[in-house]
Amino acid sequence: MKQKDIYSKEIMKYFLKPKNVGVMKNYDGLGKVGNPVCGDVLWLYIKVGVDKNGEKTIKDVKFQTLGCAVAIANSSVLTEMIKGKPLKQAMKLTQKDLIKKLGNVPPLKIHCSFLAMDALKEAINDYESKKK
Ligand code: FES
Repeated sequence: MKQKDIYSKEIMKYFLKPKNVGVMKNYDGLGKVGNPVCGDVLWLYIKVGVDKNGEKTIKDVKFQTLGCAVAIANSSVLTEMIKGKPLKQAMKLTQKDLIKKLGNVPPLKIHCSFLAMDALKEAINDYESKKK
């Protein structure tokens, strides 16, 4: 059985051509998370700006994932979902939103989406803690 038979088209699309990959210099928040069971690691960088209504938004986002196809696809789709969005809105995203966007995620790979959500929350917390 090939990977393309296991994963949805969306997972394969984001895995093969991930968006917003890379290191961000001068980031405002960084989330560094890992899964001790499988060993996958994700770093998520955010740059925060203020929109015309005075609301804090995620102006830019980058990620580096050393992990499985689903972890990479989740990281990529998350960055697309949060880029340009208000921080408050990004904080309301859930693992279910990612899975819905990616389509058919195999049950054994559901845990992979926790990595992206945890990294986002940690990056926002990092940003908030630096402001204090
Ligand atoms: Fe570890 Fe996917 S197998 S995050």
